[in-house]
Amino acid sequence: MLVIFIGPPGSGKGTQASRLCEHLSIAHLSTGDMFRAAIQEETELGLQAQQYMDRGELVPDQLVVEMVAEALRNAPYGDGCLLDGFPRSLPQAEALDQILAGEEKQVDVVLELDVDDGILIERLLARKRPDDTLDTIHNRLKVYQEQTSPLLNYYRERRLLSTVNGEGTVDEVHREILEQALQKNE
Ligand code: AP5
Repeated sequence: MLVIFIGPPGSGKGTQASRLCEHLSIAHLSTGDMFRAAIQEETELGLQAQQYMDRGELVPDQLVVEMVAEALRNAPYGDGCLLDGFPRSLPQAEALDQILAGEEKQVDVVLELDVDDGILIERLLARKRPDDTLDTIHNRLKVYQEQTSPLLNYYRERRLLSTVNGEGTVDEVHREILEQALQKNE
């Protein structure tokens, strides 16, 4: 089963991805986590990514796609995989389709986490990650609207998209995600 999470910053992608992956025994691939690990290890990729992340911009598609293609080749695929934070632009979605076609795999479910901007900002300011400053959060929200939200139609047209209300408690959102993911995968 291949699941994609799409949602604005702070919508709970990381929180819910961990829980869903544990429940379904599938691998969790978070591009944000991969970049943060690369920054921590001070690799060339990390150095390049950091300048974009600090501004709340997307890391260039080519860098992201190469990193994900390699991770998918090495991921403990087993029963499947959840992509958290990828794709985030139309070129990334098209690149993913190509990668999967080459491996005779396909996207099974795309889950959108829908949360009001005011709640997102509150959650992110409370967390205090380096890119959780007010200016950067505003830019991340703008980038989401401009570059990532067009993916919703891309996957809606392919009948893969389900929208989940991400404003409930972590448990409530988890239950809805599980229901939607299993329904779509039937
Ligand atoms: P990434 O790490 O993916 O960050 P993001 O999309 O901005 O998302 P966040 O991690 O902020 O939030 P989330 O939705 O995962 O929510 P979380 O569970 O953490 O990306 C960071 C950067 O990397 C990007 O800006 C970009 O520069 C780069 N990047 C990554 N992928 C890329 C790509 N594909 N292409 C190009 N660039 C890329 O929750 C947030 C907070 O809310 C937490 O404190 C959590 O405890 C709390 N919370 C969660 N759920 C609830 C709930 N139901 N109720 C109350 N609190 C909750």
